[in-house]
Amino acid sequence: MLKLDAVAAGYGTFQALFGTTLDVNAGEAVGVIGPNGAGKTTLMRVISGMIRPWSGAISMEGVDVLAEAPHRIIELGIAHVPENRRLFPRLTVEGNLRMGAFTPSARAKFAHRLEFVFDLFPRMKERRNQLAGTLSGGEQQMCAIGRALMSDPKLLLLDEPSAGLAPVVVQQVFELVQRIRSGGLTVLIVEQNVQQVLRVVDRAYLLEAGNIRASGASAELLASDTIKQAYLGV
Ligand SMILES: Nc1ncnc2c1ncn2[C@@H]1O[C@H](COP(=O)(O)OP(=O)(O)OP(=O)(O)O)[C@@H](O)[C@H]1O
Ligand SMILES: [Mg+2]
Repeated sequence: MLKLDAVAAGYGTFQALFGTTLDVNAGEAVGVIGPNGAGKTTLMRVISGMIRPWSGAISMEGVDVLAEAPHRIIELGIAHVPENRRLFPRLTVEGNLRMGAFTPSARAKFAHRLEFVFDLFPRMKERRNQLAGTLSGGEQQMCAIGRALMSDPKLLLLDEPSAGLAPVVVQQVFELVQRIRSGGLTVLIVEQNVQQVLRVVDRAYLLEAGNIRASGASAELLASDTIKQAYLGV
């Protein structure tokens, strides 16, 4: 579904990704793990068009993503839940969800999508008129994921959805990821909670200093000494 081939990217003269090659198949959940500053967020940004890579290729269902204008990438079925959520704090929950349905095709299905998101998150329905800035951390994450789902994506990019949440809420976020993918959505997820993310994804890539250092099935990575020592603290 999604293919990245030798993608290099950075900021100014600083290079953050050194030729990243990865793929995500339809229906899969794939994880990206790695230390702070490894380039995980940069990877998500190049996929969703927030930044343009220096070189390399990205395709979504055979379509050249880099040939599209950044605002059109969402129309290819890619939705991004950014790091730190980036909600509009002074808009209500519903106002935020509406911002996720800005494309013409999404606007046409707005009522349907709103119902879908409210079914997935009854809490958001209860709080539809509350200002997003006053939601709890876990609720804000639901709102951010809900906003991304408003565009009816095929591929959901999740950048550290569990960051800053209490352990019990982290658990709920991972359950949610499982629910989303069992609904047929393809997921690419960045996480620092390595142990937990490897329990919900099929495969994962280990990114270190802008390079893919390892990749494989979740069970393989959970058993690998490199991952165990550096990321699982065992
Ligand atoms: N807007 C920016 N301008 C300059 N450098 C940046 C910018 N954003 C990120 N970087 C740098 O690029 C590198 C990769 O950052 P990135 O945010 O992709 O890492 P990350 O793996 O997501 O880290 P974290 O786990 O802390 O979120 C870092 O060295 C970072 O300082
Ligand atoms: Mg990051």
